Order: sequence, then structure tokens, then C-alpha cells
Amino acid sequence: MIRKIGISTGGGDCPGLNAVIRAVVRAAKLHYRWDVIAIEDGFDGLIYSRNLKLLTLDDIRGILHRGGTILGTTNRGNPFKHTVEENGKMVVKDLTPQILENIDILGLDAIIVIGGDGTLAIARDLGKLGVNIVGVPKTIDNDLSATDLTFGFTTAVATATEALDRLHTTAESHHRVMVLEVMGRDAGWIALESGIAGGADVILIPEIPFDIDKVAQKVKRRQITGSRFSVMVVAEGAVPVDGEKSIIAAASEEYQNVRLGGMGYIVARAIEERTGIESRVAVLGHLQRGGSPTAYDRILATRFGAMAADLVAASKFGHMVCLRGRRIESVPIEKAIGKLKRVDPNGQLVFTAEQMGIEFGRPYS
Ligand code: F6P
Repeated sequence: MIRKIGISTGGGDCPGLNAVIRAVVRAAKLHYRWDVIAIEDGFDGLIYSRNLKLLTLDDIRGILHRGGTILGTTNRGNPFKHTVEENGKMVVKDLTPQILENIDILGLDAIIVIGGDGTLAIARDLGKLGVNIVGVPKTIDNDLSATDLTFGFTTAVATATEALDRLHTTAESHHRVMVLEVMGRDAGWIALESGIAGGADVILIPEIPFDIDKVAQKVKRRQITGSRFSVMVVAEGAVPVDGEKSIIAAASEEYQNVRLGGMGYIVARAIEERTGIESRVAVLGHLQRGGSPTAYDRILATRFGAMAADLVAASKFGHMVCLRGRRIESVPIEKAIGKLKRVDPNGQLVFTAEQMGIEFGRPYS
């Protein structure tokens, strides 16, 4: 018998999080007659029992179209290995006993956790300790294998496409090479889809290590056939055939992913050296994570939130919602995490892009 659930958002934010929160609260309150407790800043809210309050329908009014998350989030820390200060020293501790105690004090029958791979892995482990967890996947990177799409992705693609449209006009006016660096970690989905939508001349993605001479050839070919400018999309995780990823900061106990960035500058410099054409870079960065979600992402997020409430009602704990074709379904979190969904270098989408003349920098074979 469910009476009260908690809801939290963890990991990097993503357009559509608020739409999920709204859907969960509406389904919980209007359909199931449950109370919903807001857990702020991922699992930190439960560790420190910070500002844990009942969410009312008023609290979620007007948030469907708003970016970010009203619950706050963090992509640092893990309650199983939390860095805390003790007697003036930083030590790593397991703070899950505090979480279990607070869940008990609050009387939470289940928790809906909205997060990416890292957050869902923690959710799975809390499930092993007896917490009734239901997951909702999120990431602009669209790199979770268990779901055909994650909300936030189409918004990020739309933002990158608009940026490309703008870069096109300035590239053409100045007869320059304009490079747009986009996010996506080790998956090239944002670069690939925005590159196709924005009519890019070159797309560089992590799944196809690139030969910079091949890319320079493309720019020169365009030059001699009268197109004196080129527009390129470079995924932050793109990698040269004979080089490495561009890493800004190493992973740590607190921040479990390496921070990528800078490949756009490396490519622009190399192209300018090889072609003599002035090259400039725009790094889209967190603009891809902010702002209003597309209609598609609002609908997907709403469907995910409603289904998460249904999973709680059906006691399908340890599961997360997912999209399969056009249907919302569920999958055990255990099976869903740790498997990246990456672009198939020989798949249909890349092939279509190549048919359009887009250069991926595949080395000459
Ligand atoms: O996973 C989402 C994402 O935006 C990646 O595309 C990017 O590499 C990373 O998060 C950036 O994280 P942060 O917000 O810590 O800079």
C-alpha cells in the first residue's frame, strides 16, 4: 500500500526534468492520491535531510516548459563513497545508513529517481539495501542503451542546429571555417543529428576517429568549387586517428567522469594550418542543457513521469521507464545501466549524412 513517495533529480540537468517532476506529482496526487516529498540536490537531500517538504500542486504549476529542475541536482558525490570533513581531514565514508534512516523517518514507501547512468547505478545499489526505487532515465547525450530516446536530447539538437544556422551566415560572409563544438561525452548523437539538420560540411564524432588531412581536403575541395566557407560540428569526445580525446580534467572519487573539451580548437587550428583559411570556434557548452524543452521532450518527459508513478503503483521496484518504438515500457535498472548506446559508424544515419556529402574524416583505406 503506497501512501507517500519521494522524488529526486540527480546528475547533470537536462531540459524536461521539470516536466517529469510535474507528471509524477500530478499522477501521484490526482490519480493515486499519494503524498510526494521533494528531495533536493540528488541524494544529498536525503543524506542531510535538507528542506524535505511535501510538494503541492501549486509547487509544480507553470514548470512544464521550464528548463532545469525545481529540485536542484548535483553530478558530484556518491552516498556510498561520500567525501566528508572529519577532524579537519577529508575522508571517504558510506553515508547510506543516514539515507535509510531518513527514508524511515519520512515514511517514504518508494522513491522515484530521475538521473543518468551514475545516478541510476546508485539507485540500483540503494534498491539492494531495501529501498523501493523506480528510475527515470535522463541525459541530453541520448547514450543509454535501454531506451530509444531520452528527453532533453531533441532540445539539445534543436539548440545546436540553431547555432549552426547562425554560424553558417557568418562563415559565408567572412569566407571562414566555423567549428561548433557540442556535448555528448563518448556518443556522437548530438553532433550527428544537429550536423544533418544544420547542413554541416563536416561532422566529427567519437565513434569515427578522424584523419585531419581528410577533413582539410574537404575544405579545400569546397574552396576550389566556389564554396569559400565550411561549417563543422565537432563532438567534445571526437578523437583523431593518431591522437587522444581532449580532456580538461581527470575523473575523481567526487566527479566520476573525465571532463571533455577543447577538440573544436584543436581541429580549427589544424585546419587553418593545412588550408590557410581563417578558422573560428564556438563552444556551445551548457547552452545545450538549459532553456525550454521542445514539445517532443515535454511529451516524452510527461509520459516517463506518469509511467514511473504506474511502476510504483505496480510495485515494479528496481525498474526504470524507457521508450521502445513509440511505447513507454520498463526495464530492470540492473540491465539498463553501464551499456552505452553509441552511433553505429556503418549505420543508416551516418550513411545518409555521407550521401549528403558530409565528411566524417574516415581515414583513406
Ligand atoms: O552528460 C551530459 C553532459 O552535458 C555531457 O554532454 C557533458 O560532457 C557533461 O554533461 C558536462 O558536465 P558538467 O555539467 O559537469 O560540466
